Amino acid sequence: MAESMSGLKRSHRCTEVRSRNIGETVTVMGWVQKSRNKGGIIFLDLRDRSGLLQIIFEEETCGSENFAKAEKLRSEFVIAVVGEVVARSGAVNETMVTGDIEVRARQLRVLSEAEVPPFPVEEDSKTKEELRLKYRYLDLRRPDLQRNLMMRSRVATLTRQFLADEGFLEIETPMLTKSTPEGARDYLVPSRVHPGTFYALPQSPQLFKQLLMVSGYDRYFQIVKCFRDEDLRADRQPEFTQIDMELSFVDIEDVLDVNERLLQKLFKEVLQVEVELPIKRMTWQEAMDRFGSDKPDTRFGMELTDVSGVVSGCGFGVFAGAIENGGSVRGINVKGQAGMPRKKIDALVEFAKGYGAKGLAYLAVEADGSYKSSFAKFMTEEELKALVTAMDGEAGDLLLFAADKNKVVYDVLGALRLELAKQLELLDKDRYDFLWVTEFPLLEYDEEEGRYVAMHHPFTMPMEEDLTLLDTDPGKVRAKAYDIVLNGTEIGGGSVRIFQNQVQEKMFELLGFTKEAAYERFGFLLNAFKYGVPPHAGLAYGLDRLVMLMAKEDSIRDVIAFPKVKDASCLMTDAPNVVDEKQLEELALSITAEQEA
Ligand code: AMO
Ligand code: AMP
Repeated sequence: MAESMSGLKRSHRCTEVRSRNIGETVTVMGWVQKSRNKGGIIFLDLRDRSGLLQIIFEEETCGSENFAKAEKLRSEFVIAVVGEVVARSGAVNETMVTGDIEVRARQLRVLSEAEVPPFPVEEDSKTKEELRLKYRYLDLRRPDLQRNLMMRSRVATLTRQFLADEGFLEIETPMLTKSTPEGARDYLVPSRVHPGTFYALPQSPQLFKQLLMVSGYDRYFQIVKCFRDEDLRADRQPEFTQIDMELSFVDIEDVLDVNERLLQKLFKEVLQVEVELPIKRMTWQEAMDRFGSDKPDTRFGMELTDVSGVVSGCGFGVFAGAIENGGSVRGINVKGQAGMPRKKIDALVEFAKGYGAKGLAYLAVEADGSYKSSFAKFMTEEELKALVTAMDGEAGDLLLFAADKNKVVYDVLGALRLELAKQLELLDKDRYDFLWVTEFPLLEYDEEEGRYVAMHHPFTMPMEEDLTLLDTDPGKVRAKAYDIVLNGTEIGGGSVRIFQNQVQEKMFELLGFTKEAAYERFGFLLNAFKYGVPPHAGLAYGLDRLVMLMAKEDSIRDVIAFPKVKDASCLMTDAPNVVDEKQLEELALSITAEQEA
């Protein structure tokens, strides 16, 4: 039977009760973590979001009626206790912040009873994630998730404070809007009033924040939901949150500066970690050449070496052929792993094939200086020696090579490098390596579509020194775009924007839009640019990813209160779901038979 809390007022959260309160009467409320009846004395751990507090029930202090109620308490009952704070009668529990005290109950109210939960509410749960997500409201009671969400809230609050102090205004932009191209599919919302038409949920507030600059708001930010219908991964959700910002009358340096100071503040105040400024910078080209990735994890070496010059024209057809076809041969040196068993190497070859490789050539430098290799038989002694020297190979090293088009070589070795770092435990969990990656290519050729697509988005400014290439060799144009990378994860990205209509129109033309099509989709932006535009630039973080890394979690699901699973469904609410025929009719929609099946 549930009792009311009337007449009681909570005086402290559980862990706010400390030894300084000894002798005081406190009123605490929360969930029963566990309760042990030792005959005549009941020890109970009370839990709220702050942590645990031990409560003692004895008949002589709480009376027989309260004691009888206490005997019936089970895990997850919600109770209120009035009692006196005393020093721990038993041994001090060093692992609990309240381990040196306890509360001797005088009054107990059972505010809510609880059924036996489908899994225990405990730290480091061993319960399968599917079950935990179905009962997410119980999962969210667990201390690890509560810590994560409290950290997330703190990051959001500090961000708001910092940006407000820097002169940013928090302005909301619409959720029911028109498509913003950020490279994913849109989530669409059918209009009832205009049958057959759809709003798109924003993939980002990109166009609106640029319009706010046109309108003179100077510095904007928003902590905002974005929606992208794309394949989900550990660091991708269909709806996620950005810390989004835009600044007027600035260039790259100004954007990077304010963001470096924001990151420094967040890491210092939340984690007591000192981020050294300025944050390192690397051009996209250097990142690809050295790490095979535009978001390199710089916590360890194993960098790529281009050996094309050394092996061109060599006897190994795979190497010579790749170079003849305009590709390259690159390798990584896995220090001290010459003894890696054949089975493990074969698994690496399969792994590489998963990233598009046709194979992976290896060469182990044995202790006596001889080679064990999948391709040595095709090369002369001199050719092999030159190759090993180029790779800085020493006795005990394992050298791995990919030969292909540059893109494949980068992808394969970039992924292999990360995989090996995991296997060999080279990743320092306590290190935070920030890196700006700059000078991204403006465009990327999409083989499938047979046209260029924007690497960041179509509103990104080309680098001035490359402007003339727009007409002659667009694939070579670099952009005033930048990503902020932390331990190999892209936590944010942005760019200086195009603010001249001619350049913006040119950009749409390169992307294969006719002038009419460009105006059809983005006319409101192109027209706005006719009425006085300040030069502007901005950036957006993935808040989920940032907090995931700060909380040392492996998935953004662990820092989102109600996340979706891989197929974009919610196991708790069963969304998405079918709707009534009546709703469909109102929206003038019908479901095709194929989908129904
Ligand atoms: P971008 O598309 O790079 O830029 O997105 C910015 C950041 O948002 C995060 N992110 C995601 N997080 C979780 N799930 C997803 N599906 C997901 N997609 C992106 C990433 C990414 O770095 N309008 C531009 C920003 C700008 O130019 O100012 C934009 O949206 O951490
Ligand atoms: P093969 O002559 O096809 O048996 O290949 C000899 C070795 O070269 C094997 O170890 C293959 O895995 C490797 N190999 C094949 N194609 C490539 C490639 N594109 N890049 C690197 N190694 C390759």
